[in-house]
Amino acid sequence: MRIDIITVLPELLKSPFEASILKRAIEKGIVEVHMHNLRDYTNLSYNQIDDYQFGGGAGMVMMIEPIDKCISALKEQRDYDEVIYMTPDGATLNQKIANSMSLLENVIILCGHYKGVDQRVRDAFITKEISIGDYVLSGGELGAAVLCDTIIRLIPGVLSNETSALTDTFQDDLLAPPVYTRPAEYKGMKVPEILLSGNFPKIEKWREDKAYERTEKLRPDLLK
Ligand code: ADE
Repeated sequence: MRIDIITVLPELLKSPFEASILKRAIEKGIVEVHMHNLRDYTNLSYNQIDDYQFGGGAGMVMMIEPIDKCISALKEQRDYDEVIYMTPDGATLNQKIANSMSLLENVIILCGHYKGVDQRVRDAFITKEISIGDYVLSGGELGAAVLCDTIIRLIPGVLSNETSALTDTFQDDLLAPPVYTRPAEYKGMKVPEILLSGNFPKIEKWREDKAYERTEKLRPDLLK
C-alpha cells in the first residue's frame, strides 16, 4: 500500500511513522508513506495556501489551487483508489471502514486546517471524507495518523502474530475479553482458574462469554 499525505504540517506527522509497528511495516516494504507539504505547491508570496472566506466571517479557508496542483501531480504518477479528506463532518471512522481501507493499493489523505478547504476541493477531488470522532482537532494531521495506524496494522504481514488483529476489540462488533499474564497470583489477586486449565475449548467459550458480558455492560449499543 502507498499512502500520500498532503499537509501544511509534515513535522507533526513524522513520529507516528518512525516508531513501533508503523516503522516496521515501512521497513518491511509493506507500506510506503509520503508527506507532501502543501506550501511547495503555491506560487503566492509567503507560501500562502489559505485566504479569507467569501461572504465574510472568521477563519481562513484553504485554497483550491495548491491542493489541485499537489493532487494532480500525484495522479500523474499513478492511479489512486481513494482521495480522503480528514474533517470533523466526515463519516466517523470505525473498524469496518478500517478493514475495507486496508485492502486499498494507493491512497491520498488530505489534512484540513483552519475553517477547512474550499468546497470545490471536496466536490471535485475528494472521494471519501473521514472524521475520527465528534470533536474538533486543530488540523487533520492527528486524524490522518490515527487512520493510517488503524489501516496499516491490518495489512497482512504487518503484525508479527497474524491472527492477533482478528481478535481485537470491535473486530466482530464485540469488545475483547480480559487478558492476563504472569504471575498467576499477585498480592492475592488471582488469574481466573479456567485460563490455567489447559482446556482450550473451554477457554475459548469463557472468552466468548466474557466478550459478550463486557460488551453488554460497557457498549450495549454494539449488540443492537
Ligand atoms: N480535523 C479536525 N477535526 C477532525 C476530526 N475530528 N477528525 C478528522 N479530521 C479532523
